Amino acid sequence: MSEAEIIDGKAFAQRVRERVTAAVATLKADHNIVPGLTVVLVGEDPASQVYVRNKGKQTAAAGMESNTIRLDAATPEQDLLDLIKTLNGDDAVHGILVQLPLPDQIDEAKVIAAIDPDKDVDGFHVVNVGRLWTGAEAPVPCTPYGCLQMLKETLGELKGKRALVLGRSNIVGKPMSALLLAEHCTVTIAHSRTVDLGERCREADILIAAVGQPQMVPGSWIKPGATVIDVGINRIDAPEKGEGKTRLVGDVNFEEAQQVAAHITPVPGGVGPVTIANLLRNTVIAACRQKGLDVPEI
Ligand code: GUN
Repeated sequence: MSEAEIIDGKAFAQRVRERVTAAVATLKADHNIVPGLTVVLVGEDPASQVYVRNKGKQTAAAGMESNTIRLDAATPEQDLLDLIKTLNGDDAVHGILVQLPLPDQIDEAKVIAAIDPDKDVDGFHVVNVGRLWTGAEAPVPCTPYGCLQMLKETLGELKGKRALVLGRSNIVGKPMSALLLAEHCTVTIAHSRTVDLGERCREADILIAAVGQPQMVPGSWIKPGATVIDVGINRIDAPEKGEGKTRLVGDVNFEEAQQVAAHITPVPGGVGPVTIANLLRNTVIAACRQKGLDVPEI
């Protein structure tokens, strides 16, 4: 069997950003509206710093209003809740994102619950989770929506396919399952306690790996001809690159999987770039809904 086709997430994200940029220009020209995204970062987590910087840059590059609020790691929970209340009431802010994880003194669920659901561009608020699972209009979490878009572009119709989602997080696994179900897939959610995990994975036409365990899925767990979406971004030691060097790997053993699958996303350059592009998309959609305008195709 020939090697799997690599799904190019960077190019995909670029196309989403182009559609976002065009929609932003139309909103400005026709309605004098500039979609605004505010990102709140509490503390100094290095990975979060990188994400937040990239979010800010890409928001501005798409012609949107970008604001990043950086708070001290010791910020009391009430201060963050007060800030969210102010942002909820600010008409120029259409999207609010509080970067996770938060420091220990802050209750994540309380913070997410404080965000106006219509400005919740992560789609994490319980109201939006409920909307997603009941098929109502909702901001959809950015990473799973990106996975779905890439799957549809790669495979076309997903109806009737067997999908296995490895991981049950609120950010990826659960919303991913809802999206695949809405596309009429037969969905299995697997996790660390799943019995016969390899066998379950081998049944899947579509395998989504989102557990945060470096290279956990070997090639032998993949059904020949399957489509593999690797959401994991794990940093591991890479002594072959020199002492103290590291490299990024996914949750799937890419080299092995590539020999078995028909399509696969690489790490880096697969799912990662698509997440921020969809954040921009969600912000434009949120701005349109808040202003009572038709939502453009993005
Ligand atoms: N931390 C890691 N991924 C995400 C995400 O998609 N949204 C937020 N708010 N924080 C994150």
